Amino acid sequence: MRISVIGCGYLGAVHAACMAKLGHEVVGIDVDERKIAALAAAKAPFYEPSLEDLLVEVQKTGRLTFTTDMSAAAGSSVHFICVGTPQKKGENGADLAFVDAAFAALLPHLSEDDVVVGKSTVPVGTAARLAQLMNERQPSAHLVWNPEFLREGHAVADTLQPDRFVYGVSNGSEDHPAVAVLDDVYSQPLATGTPRLVTDHPTAELVKAAANSFLATKISFINAMAEVCEATGADVTQLADAIGMDDRIGRKFLHAGIGFGGGCLPKDIRAFMARAGELGADQALTFLREVDAINMRRRTRVVELARELCGGSLLGKRITVLGAAFKPESDDVRDSPALSIAAQLQLQGSVVTVTDPKALSNAARRFPELHYQEDTDKAVQKADALLLLTEWQEYRDLDPYALTSLVTSPSILDGRNVLDAAKWRAAGWTYRGFGRP
Ligand code: UGA
Repeated sequence: MRISVIGCGYLGAVHAACMAKLGHEVVGIDVDERKIAALAAAKAPFYEPSLEDLLVEVQKTGRLTFTTDMSAAAGSSVHFICVGTPQKKGENGADLAFVDAAFAALLPHLSEDDVVVGKSTVPVGTAARLAQLMNERQPSAHLVWNPEFLREGHAVADTLQPDRFVYGVSNGSEDHPAVAVLDDVYSQPLATGTPRLVTDHPTAELVKAAANSFLATKISFINAMAEVCEATGADVTQLADAIGMDDRIGRKFLHAGIGFGGGCLPKDIRAFMARAGELGADQALTFLREVDAINMRRRTRVVELARELCGGSLLGKRITVLGAAFKPESDDVRDSPALSIAAQLQLQGSVVTVTDPKALSNAARRFPELHYQEDTDKAVQKADALLLLTEWQEYRDLDPYALTSLVTSPSILDGRNVLDAAKWRAAGWTYRGFGRP
C-alpha cells in the first residue's frame, strides 16, 4: 500500500520505518527540514535502539522516502497523523496546534476513499471535530483514531508487535470500510495474533488517555507506598515483589523511585484532567491530581535526601547526577525528573555534574547552566555524593569498590532502587534508596 506519515518525531519516524518494514511504500513528511534531512540519510534524529538499523534496511528497498512537501501525500491511500500534542504553555490542556495544522495541510491532497489515521494522543472529541472538517472537504474519505502505545526505548518492537490495535471509526462497527483498509496495513502483526478492537472515535481516544493514566497511577501508587515504607522502616521493593505476584496486580510499573517523566505520562494525565473539566466530569479524575502531586513530591524528596547525604547542607557540595534522560535507552529529556532534580540542586547551591550515555546534548540545550561530563569516571571525580537518577545498565553495573578512590565521600542515593544495597554498603558506601530501610 502507499502510505503517508505526517509528523516524523519519535512516533512518526518509527511508524514510517516500521510501515516500510511491513512492505508498504511510505513517505514521511515533516515541516522540520533538519529532521527530514537526517531521516533521508537513514540517520535517526534521536536515540532509539534499532531504529537506525531499520532505517538503513528499509531505505535500501526504496520503499521509504522523506520530504517536507505535503503534496507528496497525494497518491497515498492511507495517511497517518503522528504529530505531537504537547502541554499548552501555562495550562494543563493539550496543544492541538500541530494536529490542526497537519490536518489542514493534508486535506487538499486527499482523494476519494482515502483513510486518514490519527495516532497522536488527543483529547476526546478531537476525532469527531476533525471528521466533520474532512467531511466538508472530501466526504468519501474516512477518519480512524488508532492510538499508539509505543514506549520510547522499545519503539520499534512495540510498533511491529504491539499488545493490541484499537481502531476508532465513526460508526464503531466492524463493517466500516476503513477497518478492512487498516487490517491490510497491519496484516502481518494481525496474522501473528495481535488482537484488535474496533470501537467508536471517543472510546478510541479515551483508551489512550486511560492507559497512560493507569500507568501513571500505578507508579504513583507504589511511590506513595514508598513514603509509607520510609515512615515505618519497611522495604517498598519487597512490598512490590509481593503484591506484584498477584496476577490481578502485576509487578510491572511498580518500580518506586524518583517518579515518571517524559513527553507523555505527565502531560497526558494533565490534558485528561483538563478535558474532563471541560466535559463537566472533572470529579471523576480528581485522583489524577494526587497522582501528579505524589510524582512531583518525589523530586523534592530527592533534594532533601541529597542534603542529608551531604551532611545537612548542599552549599558548595559537589554532586554527580548519573543519568539525564527521563528513562534509560532514550536521549529524551522532556520533563526528565533527573534533570529537574539536577537543576534544583544547583539552584540550592551545590556544584552539579550530570552524566548520561546519550542525552547530554539534549540536556545541555534545556539546562545550559549545568555542568556536563560524558565520561562517568571523570564525572564522579571528587564528588561528595552520587545520585543515580536514570537506571542505564552501565550505572546498574558500577563497581562500588572501583569508585571509592575517585569520590571525596562514598555516598550514593539510588533514585531508581536498582543497586544492591548490601554490596554498596559492604564496599564502605553510605547507601540510600527510596522506601527502603
Ligand atoms: C508511555 C507509555 O508507557 C506508552 O505505552 C505510551 O505509548 C507512551 O507513553 C505515549 O503516550 O506515547 P514512555 O513515555 O516512553 O511511554 O515511557 P514509560 O516506559 O511509560 O515510562 C514513563 C516514566 O515512568 C519514565 O520516567 C520511567 O522512568 C517511569 N517509571 C516507569 C517509573 O518511575 N516506575 C515504573 O515502574 C515504570
